[in-house]
Amino acid sequence: MSANIFPAHTFLDIASAVYEKGYCVLEDALPIPLLTALQSHLQNESDLEFKAAGVGRGLEHVREELIRQDQIAWIEGESAAEQQWLDWAALLKVSLNQQLFLGLFAFESHFAHYRIGQFYKRHHDAFRGQANRVLSIVTYLNKDWQDSEGGELIIYSEDGATIAERVYPRAGTVVVFLSEAFAHEVLPSTRDRYSIAGWFRVNQAVL
Ligand code: OGA
Ligand code: MN
Repeated sequence: MSANIFPAHTFLDIASAVYEKGYCVLEDALPIPLLTALQSHLQNESDLEFKAAGVGRGLEHVREELIRQDQIAWIEGESAAEQQWLDWAALLKVSLNQQLFLGLFAFESHFAHYRIGQFYKRHHDAFRGQANRVLSIVTYLNKDWQDSEGGELIIYSEDGATIAERVYPRAGTVVVFLSEAFAHEVLPSTRDRYSIAGWFRVNQAVL
C-alpha cells in the first residue's frame, strides 16, 4: 500500500478537530481513488446484501422501524474496494492513536442505504459506562448532492440543547465524533442516500 495516496494532513486535521471540539466535519476528505472504488462497488449492489438495520422481530421490529429505516451491509473486506476502505480506516486509527492516545483497537463499519423519506431518529452510538464504541466515523458516497434534497446528518451540541452541525451527505465528506458525546440524527431525503458508518472500539477487558 502506498502511503502517499492517503494524505496524512487529512488525518492530522481530523485529530486536531476531535481534540479541540470532540468532532470533525471535513469535505472532500476521502481520497478520490477510494471514493471512486466505493461508488462503483455500490453500483453492483447485487453483490452486497443490504438488510433492514432493525434486527428485531414482530413488535420489536416495528419499534425499531420508528427509530431507523435504513438498509445496511456490513463491510468485511470481501472486495478490493472494501479492503481499500478498511486499509484507510486502519491508517486513520494509527494516526489518531499517535495524536490523541485514544487506544483505538478494533474497527467495524457498514454501508447504509436510506431510501426516499427514510430516516434515523436522534440517537447516540454509545452509552457512557457500558459501551466500547469510542469514535464514530461517517462518510458519504452521493454524487452531486443538492442541499434541497435534504438527508442532512444533524449533530447536536454536547449538552444536547442546540444543533452543532448540519452536514449534507456529499461524496467525500468525512464526519468523525466521540461516540458517547454527540447525539445525532439523519433527516429524510428526496433521493436515495448512501453512507458508510463505522466505529472504532477500545479493547475492553473482561472484569
Ligand atoms: C449511524 C448513523 C449517520 C449517517 O449509522 O449510526 O448515525 O449520516 N449514520 O448515515
Ligand atoms: Mn449513529
